[in-house]
Amino acid sequence: MFNYLCCKLLYYKISNDYPLKMNINLNESNILVTGSSRGIGKAIALRLIQSGAKVAIHYSQHEHSALEIINAYPQQAFAFKADLSKSDEVSQLFDNVIKHFGKLDVLVNNAGIAISSPINKDDELWMRDWELTMSVNLHATGLLCKKAINHFIPHQSGRIINITSRAAFRGDTAEYIAYAASKGGMVAITRSIARAYGKQGIKAFNIAPGFTRTDMAQGFIDEYGELYAMNDIALDRLTEPDDIAPLVVFLASGYADHATGATIDINAASYVH
Ligand SMILES: NC(=O)c1ccc[n+]([C@@H]2O[C@H](COP(=O)([O-])OP(=O)(O)OC[C@H]3O[C@@H](n4cnc5c(N)ncnc54)[C@H](OP(=O)(O)O)[C@@H]3O)[C@@H](O)[C@H]2O)c1
Repeated sequence: MFNYLCCKLLYYKISNDYPLKMNINLNESNILVTGSSRGIGKAIALRLIQSGAKVAIHYSQHEHSALEIINAYPQQAFAFKADLSKSDEVSQLFDNVIKHFGKLDVLVNNAGIAISSPINKDDELWMRDWELTMSVNLHATGLLCKKAINHFIPHQSGRIINITSRAAFRGDTAEYIAYAASKGGMVAITRSIARAYGKQGIKAFNIAPGFTRTDMAQGFIDEYGELYAMNDIALDRLTEPDDIAPLVVFLASGYADHATGATIDINAASYVH
């Protein structure tokens, strides 16, 4: 009898310290996912919704695709339009999301562009590609992070997940130098936030996908062929958007908060840093 009681006590102590089941339930979370009308962002939004979160579905051109999600999950998904190349719209987007939710728990900076811009292009046009790439991928990310930090500080809590790229670390092909540079900048933003605001309860993570089958990747496939991408990776199929999304759910859950500042590769072992 004494042994039995000891075992029971130990069981309760251990299961209290280490809850046996890792259930991810985001019922209490309000999350903004930029660029969630298509591709990786759409998969992220759907996984977050399926885990219980309320998600701000941000889009720019593809309203129809965004509305499909809203109509499928009217209680959990809400549409917000903004062109992230325009800083006033970036700012307005965040303000509108806060007006709707009251409180934001997680920001996912996913929207991005990759413009093919070979070095034999005219200087002015080449610079225009750079400016557009930087405005959407880097400046909008920076401004949304700034606004999110200011929103998170009074709550002493918040998570930022930035979707960067393998290109930030290994570089990209000659036409996508601006893209790689913008993604490197995102990595630096995330690390700075993790270092500067951790004590105020704010965590920041990078996810660095490799080649992932989306509309963006289709441009590359058209240029280089699918075999080029397949030869790069260690697995037997190209990465799909839903190979990226579950990691965002995990990072949003708080189970990985002590990985703040980290970059997590998802590139089918094509480049592991
Ligand atoms: N696919 C890959 O191989 C790969 C690899 C590494 C990293 N990534 C990164 O993963 C993220 C998602 O890429 P993806 O492949 O899913 O791209 P995608 O299929 O081309 O989708 C891009 C998303 O970003 C939004 N977007 C584009 N330009 C915008 C603008 N000016 N203002 C507001 N929203 C804008 C689009 O919204 P609308 O359609 O509504 O305009 C769309 O929802 C990007 O940051 C990308 O750099 C992708």
